[in-house]
Amino acid sequence: MPPYNRERIDRFTADPEHKIIVVDQDKDRIVGHMQISIATNARFRGIGELFIYLHQDFQNVGLGTAMMREGLGQARARKLHRVELSVVAENQRGIRSYEKVGFQREGVKRENYLGEDGKYHDEIVMGILL
Ligand SMILES: CC(C)(COP(=O)(O)OP(=O)(O)OC[C@H]1O[C@@H](n2cnc3c(N)ncnc32)[C@H](O)[C@@H]1OP(=O)(O)O)[C@@H](O)C(=O)NCCC(=O)NCCS
Repeated sequence: MPPYNRERIDRFTADPEHKIIVVDQDKDRIVGHMQISIATNARFRGIGELFIYLHQDFQNVGLGTAMMREGLGQARARKLHRVELSVVAENQRGIRSYEKVGFQREGVKRENYLGEDGKYHDEIVMGILL
Protein backbone atom coordinates (compact mmCIF):
# COMPACT_ATOMS: atom_id res chain seq x y z
CA MET A 1 0.00 0.00 0.00
CA PRO A 2 1.21 3.63 0.17
CA PRO A 3 3.62 5.02 -0.85
CA TYR A 4 2.51 4.22 -4.40
CA ASN A 5 4.60 4.07 -7.52
CA ARG A 6 3.78 5.94 -10.72
CA GLU A 7 2.24 2.91 -12.42
CA ARG A 8 -0.28 2.41 -9.62
CA ILE A 9 -1.09 6.11 -9.50
CA ASP A 10 -1.76 6.10 -13.26
CA ARG A 11 -3.97 3.05 -12.92
CA PHE A 12 -5.93 4.49 -10.01
CA THR A 13 -6.50 7.82 -11.70
CA ALA A 14 -7.63 6.41 -15.07
CA ASP A 15 -11.30 6.90 -16.05
CA PRO A 16 -11.99 9.97 -13.84
CA GLU A 17 -15.57 10.16 -15.12
CA HIS A 18 -16.38 7.12 -12.97
CA LYS A 19 -14.24 7.95 -9.96
CA ILE A 20 -13.93 10.46 -7.17
CA ILE A 21 -10.39 10.48 -5.82
CA VAL A 22 -8.96 12.27 -2.80
CA VAL A 23 -5.26 11.88 -2.03
CA ASP A 24 -3.06 13.28 0.73
CA GLN A 25 0.50 14.26 0.08
CA ASP A 26 3.41 14.61 2.47
CA LYS A 27 6.09 16.39 0.44
CA ASP A 28 6.42 14.22 -2.70
CA ARG A 29 4.76 11.11 -1.20
CA ILE A 30 1.14 10.09 -1.38
CA VAL A 31 0.23 9.01 2.15
CA GLY A 32 -3.53 8.60 1.82
CA HIS A 33 -5.90 7.56 -0.91
CA MET A 34 -9.69 7.60 -0.89
CA GLN A 35 -11.67 6.58 -3.88
CA ILE A 36 -15.35 6.30 -4.73
CA SER A 37 -15.87 4.14 -7.81
CA ILE A 38 -19.11 5.03 -9.55
CA ALA A 39 -21.13 2.19 -11.06
CA THR A 40 -21.31 2.06 -14.84
CA ASN A 41 -24.25 -0.41 -15.07
CA ALA A 42 -27.54 1.51 -15.64
CA ARG A 43 -29.32 -0.44 -12.89
CA PHE A 44 -26.81 0.86 -10.37
CA ARG A 45 -26.70 4.43 -11.66
CA GLY A 46 -25.78 6.87 -8.90
CA ILE A 47 -24.24 4.18 -6.68
CA GLY A 48 -20.64 4.46 -5.54
CA GLU A 49 -18.28 2.12 -3.68
CA LEU A 50 -15.79 3.66 -1.29
CA PHE A 51 -12.24 2.52 -0.59
CA ILE A 52 -9.74 4.26 1.71
CA TYR A 53 -6.23 3.58 2.91
CA LEU A 54 -3.81 5.75 4.87
CA HIS A 55 -0.12 5.16 5.44
CA GLN A 56 0.42 3.80 8.97
CA ASP A 57 2.18 7.00 10.13
CA PHE A 58 -0.88 9.09 9.25
CA GLN A 59 -3.65 7.00 10.79
CA ASN A 60 -5.84 7.92 13.76
CA VAL A 61 -5.34 11.71 13.61
CA GLY A 62 -8.56 12.58 11.81
CA LEU A 63 -7.23 12.50 8.26
CA GLY A 64 -9.41 9.62 7.07
CA THR A 65 -12.53 11.34 8.35
CA ALA A 66 -11.56 14.57 6.60
CA MET A 67 -10.84 12.75 3.33
CA MET A 68 -14.19 10.97 3.41
CA ARG A 69 -16.05 14.21 4.17
CA GLU A 70 -14.36 15.77 1.13
CA GLY A 71 -15.12 12.74 -1.07
CA LEU A 72 -18.76 12.53 0.03
CA GLY A 73 -19.12 16.27 -0.59
CA GLN A 74 -17.92 15.71 -4.14
CA ALA A 75 -20.29 12.75 -4.45
CA ARG A 76 -23.23 14.96 -3.43
CA ALA A 77 -22.12 17.63 -5.91
CA ARG A 78 -22.10 14.96 -8.62
CA LYS A 79 -25.62 13.90 -7.55
CA LEU A 80 -24.72 10.39 -6.45
CA HIS A 81 -27.57 8.67 -4.62
CA ARG A 82 -25.75 6.19 -2.41
CA VAL A 83 -22.25 5.16 -1.38
CA GLU A 84 -21.45 1.77 0.13
CA LEU A 85 -18.47 -0.17 1.41
CA SER A 86 -17.47 -3.38 3.15
CA VAL A 87 -15.18 -3.52 6.16
CA VAL A 88 -13.75 -6.44 8.11
CA ALA A 89 -15.72 -6.75 11.36
CA GLU A 90 -12.56 -6.50 13.51
CA ASN A 91 -11.62 -3.12 11.97
CA GLN A 92 -13.16 -1.05 14.76
CA ARG A 93 -11.28 2.10 13.80
CA GLY A 94 -12.55 1.86 10.24
CA ILE A 95 -16.14 1.25 11.36
CA ARG A 96 -15.96 4.17 13.81
CA SER A 97 -14.59 6.54 11.15
CA TYR A 98 -17.28 5.45 8.66
CA GLU A 99 -20.01 6.02 11.25
CA LYS A 100 -18.57 9.46 12.01
CA VAL A 101 -19.19 10.57 8.42
CA GLY A 102 -22.70 9.10 8.31
CA PHE A 103 -22.43 5.49 7.13
CA GLN A 104 -24.85 3.04 8.72
CA ARG A 105 -24.40 -0.69 9.25
CA GLU A 106 -26.62 -2.53 6.81
CA GLY A 107 -25.66 -6.16 7.22
CA VAL A 108 -23.04 -8.81 7.69
CA LYS A 109 -21.38 -10.95 5.07
CA ARG A 110 -20.43 -13.97 7.11
CA GLU A 111 -16.86 -15.24 6.69
CA ASN A 112 -16.46 -13.32 3.43
CA TYR A 113 -12.82 -12.26 3.86
CA LEU A 114 -9.82 -14.57 4.04
CA GLY A 115 -7.34 -12.85 6.35
CA GLU A 116 -3.58 -13.13 6.48
CA ASP A 117 -4.14 -15.40 9.50
CA GLY A 118 -5.60 -17.98 7.10
CA LYS A 119 -9.08 -17.64 8.68
CA TYR A 120 -12.31 -16.31 7.23
CA HIS A 121 -13.61 -13.10 8.82
CA ASP A 122 -17.04 -11.49 8.76
CA GLU A 123 -17.44 -8.29 6.77
CA ILE A 124 -19.84 -5.48 7.71
CA VAL A 125 -21.69 -3.85 4.83
CA MET A 126 -22.20 -0.12 5.39
CA GLY A 127 -23.99 2.48 3.32
CA ILE A 128 -24.95 6.15 3.23
CA LEU A 129 -27.80 7.75 1.28
CA LEU A 130 -26.73 11.18 0.04
C1 LIG B 1 -9.56 3.17 8.61
C2 LIG B 1 -8.91 4.51 8.30
C3 LIG B 1 -9.25 4.94 6.89
C4 LIG B 1 -9.50 5.56 9.29
O1 LIG B 1 -8.89 6.80 9.07
P1 LIG B 1 -8.17 7.54 10.28
O2 LIG B 1 -7.70 8.86 9.80
O3 LIG B 1 -7.16 6.62 10.88
O4 LIG B 1 -9.40 7.71 11.31
P2 LIG B 1 -9.80 9.01 12.12
O5 LIG B 1 -8.63 9.45 12.92
O6 LIG B 1 -10.43 10.00 11.21
O7 LIG B 1 -10.97 8.42 13.07
C5 LIG B 1 -10.75 7.22 13.78
C6 LIG B 1 -11.80 7.05 14.87
O8 LIG B 1 -11.76 5.69 15.33
C7 LIG B 1 -11.52 5.69 16.72
N1 LIG B 1 -10.73 4.48 17.00
C8 LIG B 1 -9.41 4.27 16.81
N2 LIG B 1 -9.08 3.03 17.16
C9 LIG B 1 -10.25 2.42 17.58
C10 LIG B 1 -10.58 1.13 18.07
N3 LIG B 1 -9.64 0.18 18.18
N4 LIG B 1 -11.88 0.88 18.39
C11 LIG B 1 -12.84 1.81 18.24
N5 LIG B 1 -12.58 3.08 17.78
C12 LIG B 1 -11.29 3.35 17.46
C13 LIG B 1 -10.78 6.97 17.00
O9 LIG B 1 -10.89 7.32 18.36
C14 LIG B 1 -11.57 7.93 16.07
O10 LIG B 1 -12.84 8.24 16.59
P3 LIG B 1 -13.11 9.62 17.42
O11 LIG B 1 -12.74 10.76 16.52
O12 LIG B 1 -14.57 9.56 17.72
O13 LIG B 1 -12.23 9.57 18.64
C15 LIG B 1 -7.36 4.45 8.47
O14 LIG B 1 -7.04 4.20 9.83
C16 LIG B 1 -6.70 3.39 7.61
O15 LIG B 1 -6.37 3.65 6.47
N6 LIG B 1 -6.47 2.20 8.17
C17 LIG B 1 -5.80 1.10 7.47
C18 LIG B 1 -6.52 0.66 6.23
C19 LIG B 1 -7.97 0.37 6.45
O16 LIG B 1 -8.37 -0.19 7.46
N7 LIG B 1 -8.77 0.79 5.48
C20 LIG B 1 -10.20 0.56 5.48
C21 LIG B 1 -10.47 -0.77 4.88
S1 LIG B 1 -12.24 -1.02 4.73
